[in-house]
Amino acid sequence: MPDKSATLILFGATGDLAHRMVFPSLYHLQCDGLLPRPFHILASGRTEMDDAAFRATIAEALKTYAAAELFDDARVAAFLDTVIYCPVAAGDDAQFAALAERAKALGDGPVAVYLSTPPSLFAPTAEGLAKAGLVAPTTRIAMEKPIGKDLASSREVNDAVGALFHEEQIFRVDHYLGKETVQNLMALRFGNRLFEPLWNSSAIDHVQITVAETVGLEGRVSYYDGVGALKDMVQNHMLQILSIIAMEPPARMDSTSVRDEKVKALRSLRPMNADTVHTHSVRGQYRDGAVKGKLVAGYAEELGKPSDTETFVALKAHLDNWRWTGVPFYLRTGKAMPNRQSEILIQFKPVTHSIFRRNGYHKPLEPNQLIIRLQPDENIRLCIMAKQPGLDRDGVKLQEVGLDVSLAHAFEGERRRIAYERLLLDLIEGDTTLFVRRDEVEAQWTWIDSIAAGWRASGQKVVQYAAGTWGPSAGIALIERDGASWYD
Ligand code: BG6
Repeated sequence: MPDKSATLILFGATGDLAHRMVFPSLYHLQCDGLLPRPFHILASGRTEMDDAAFRATIAEALKTYAAAELFDDARVAAFLDTVIYCPVAAGDDAQFAALAERAKALGDGPVAVYLSTPPSLFAPTAEGLAKAGLVAPTTRIAMEKPIGKDLASSREVNDAVGALFHEEQIFRVDHYLGKETVQNLMALRFGNRLFEPLWNSSAIDHVQITVAETVGLEGRVSYYDGVGALKDMVQNHMLQILSIIAMEPPARMDSTSVRDEKVKALRSLRPMNADTVHTHSVRGQYRDGAVKGKLVAGYAEELGKPSDTETFVALKAHLDNWRWTGVPFYLRTGKAMPNRQSEILIQFKPVTHSIFRRNGYHKPLEPNQLIIRLQPDENIRLCIMAKQPGLDRDGVKLQEVGLDVSLAHAFEGERRRIAYERLLLDLIEGDTTLFVRRDEVEAQWTWIDSIAAGWRASGQKVVQYAAGTWGPSAGIALIERDGASWYD
């Protein structure tokens, strides 16, 4: 077991993500006694302020974002005592030197660094740390997505950071991997004998992955415009989910075995081109409408100018490998949808022969479905055929019924943790299993670039959909052409 980091340097500490997720997660870990003792957080941002002023902002953030059952003035005060603020601007060597001095005064154990900054600052920050003598073989560095905006730029970032840190020291964050529900996909597949023999093209007709959000832009226009749903959601979160659904069983639950299998699945994604994007992808952008009864302004209206950025994307993906040949993976994600809902549907094939035909009665059997709901509530539902009660004079009548497992009920009493709690603890303890390896990021970008290039070459534009609907009708046609339909 690697040594734990007793010091965490957090860049971007004044930002929204730090306030909503990182500090509350660290606070929860501290309350549960999971952080090393002593533990120090060196928080850094561009704004000049002293420790007391910064701690006051974190106290406010904890009031809003910490779990109510853990909130307690004495514990908050003890937590804030571990926080030191150090203003640092990228490129300012003197400020990096001052940061290093404060870090070294806290001890000489392994340091963990968390970059919760815009990606353009990843390389300059890593360089500033190295110049200040803060990069040792035991230093760990975590980076938020997005790593680049395409394969070439992701390579630049990875090369710059990789010149100073070995791959085992780099923790690329995809917060979906910190979600219990996403980790549970592995438990479901590899902790049960039941599914694995059927988990392939002989029994599975197709797979659907939906990540629908009710939120719209939420003041993130400057980041989002020009990026869009393909790069914001599919490139990372959805492809990580897909890789866990599609991968071969790893030999062990360790960082190398798991990531080796995920990357093989990602590399088998069939690239798209200017011809195939027409039939295999749909781009949408929401216009004004109503989500859950609230009026929502259209994307372009909120942006203040017309835009060709997609807020919805639907894709039909193929994995060219032995297990999945002929099994389409339909992916769909969008903003301003009717419900917040992340779900995976495994659609099984029909039985090969129905024995339930008699006296002209031959109601078709519904093929089995496995529905894994990731959020908002965690639920697994297996739809099976059951006999309808009755005397069956016209033949046995069957009806679909669901076997439901609500994980919230099954694990009642367990606090559902923020995804970042798990990821921060793994960073502090040096376990990279739930972080994205460089080759995974590159395989993800390779496929995404093929789609983006196909859109550019074919001039495929966004299609409008009303906010509060399930996207443009072309998104529905994408799957219905194949005789299937989205599971809503
Ligand atoms: C982020 C995206 O990575 O994930 C956001 O940039 C998106 O656009 C968010 O809203 C969704 O995360 P979650 O945990 O709310 O599903």
